[in-house]
Amino acid sequence: MTEQSRNRIKVPSGKWLTGHLTDFQKDPLTFLTMLSREYKDMAQIRFGPFTRVYVVSNPNLIKKILVTKQTNFRKSQDLQILKDVVGEGLLTSEKDVHLRQRRLIQPSFRHSHINRYANDMIKTTSDYIEKWEDKKEYNMSDEMMNITLGIISKTMFSMDFDEGVSKIGEPMETYMRLAIKRMRSISPLPLWVPTKANKKYKQSIHSLNEVIASIINNRRQDDRTYEDLLGVLLQARDERDGLGMTDDQLKDELMTIFLAGHETTANALTWTMYLLAENPGIAEKLSDEIDRVIGNNPVEPKHFKDLSYTQNIISESLRLYPPAYLIGRQVIKDVRIGTYSLKKGDMVIMSQYAMHRNDQYFDEPDTFKPERFENNFVKTIPTYAYFPFGGGPRVCIGNHFAMMESVLVLACIAQRFRWKLAPNHHRVKPQPLITLRPKHGLRMVLEERN
Ligand code: HEM
Repeated sequence: MTEQSRNRIKVPSGKWLTGHLTDFQKDPLTFLTMLSREYKDMAQIRFGPFTRVYVVSNPNLIKKILVTKQTNFRKSQDLQILKDVVGEGLLTSEKDVHLRQRRLIQPSFRHSHINRYANDMIKTTSDYIEKWEDKKEYNMSDEMMNITLGIISKTMFSMDFDEGVSKIGEPMETYMRLAIKRMRSISPLPLWVPTKANKKYKQSIHSLNEVIASIINNRRQDDRTYEDLLGVLLQARDERDGLGMTDDQLKDELMTIFLAGHETTANALTWTMYLLAENPGIAEKLSDEIDRVIGNNPVEPKHFKDLSYTQNIISESLRLYPPAYLIGRQVIKDVRIGTYSLKKGDMVIMSQYAMHRNDQYFDEPDTFKPERFENNFVKTIPTYAYFPFGGGPRVCIGNHFAMMESVLVLACIAQRFRWKLAPNHHRVKPQPLITLRPKHGLRMVLEERN
């Protein structure tokens, strides 16, 4: 690349009306990766006739946006649609509302609590995979979604699997499917128009609200002590004013954690299963570590810290297929980022998928190499070259929960099974919806180890 092309920022050839929106929508991963390779720090594109969008590919500039100058930005507009169900929860709220809620909720995700949730993660997984059979084929995308749905229902509400799926999982799935359609549509029909899709959309929101409200109500009237996430959140008090959450706030946060907390981890696990099937040598090393650390004993939370290779497998899988493949922000106050002047109303996109495949920071960037994470590798590269959980005040609140969950679920599965792609499997391609998932699922054949 010539020095001149390195200093380019404006991306040519946008369409006069839609700008680069169609290129982005058609294949966001390829488009964003191309921009991060061809443009040094920032690429300036356009969505629609007027909206300037900067695609940022320099870790120091990403740090400025997420951390040092974060007050000049807000979350991107397309997330607003989620407010229909998560209201003013952590994911969608801004400024003081977000700050207070974050202060209140953060302690519920401390290591001491997560270690307790870990028992439920293991029990839910072990019970679920009990029904898996030798030489049978399973759609791992569905299976992982079921397992993480079971885990979040149990850790959050002490609900068993069937209850969690029918009461929350199903309406949430319907809601998400229709919400994505609304997000992607240029002008979604207002909800008062009585179309079939609108009715279903409203019905799913209504069901979710009813279920969560009744869970909160029952719990408020229950004298017993619960150690699940809801129990911890009910006890949470703001250290400044001593106040807890109202029922409405609690409902928004429960819905947020439920929504943010199961599909992401399910996809991380599904991609991990895929990468291991494609790399049998690494799968063998995983089995060796499980045999050495756990043997034939039941998996326990204490094993987590000794499963360092398993942890590296998850980190490497989050590098290659980050479930949150981009983070968007909107400029709310003019700001200088490096040598670039961003104006109010501009948008920025920072893509984990593109950054994690940058050969400046990762050698053989497209190769699955868990070993690269040995010896504190992440500390040797710029902080925002690897950021599967985002960063700054809005960093994923469930990052330790997700790591613990992914490692323990994988350990439970790998202790009992090996797996490979089903015969004549379609070519596996990532599908970037709200999270990154394998398009058309992932069919795997299991083989019992002993
Ligand atoms: C591998 C799994 C996961 C990944 C890759 C992931 C990724 C992310 C990312 C990138 C963000 C920041 C988004 C932004 O800055 O715009 C985020 C936020 C969030 N995540 Fe996660 N997440 C995962 C699992 C979880 C889990 C298990 C939970 C809860 C149990 C959770 C709850 C949340 C919440 C509540 C937020 C909003 C935080 C805030 O703005 O204060 N996530 N997640």
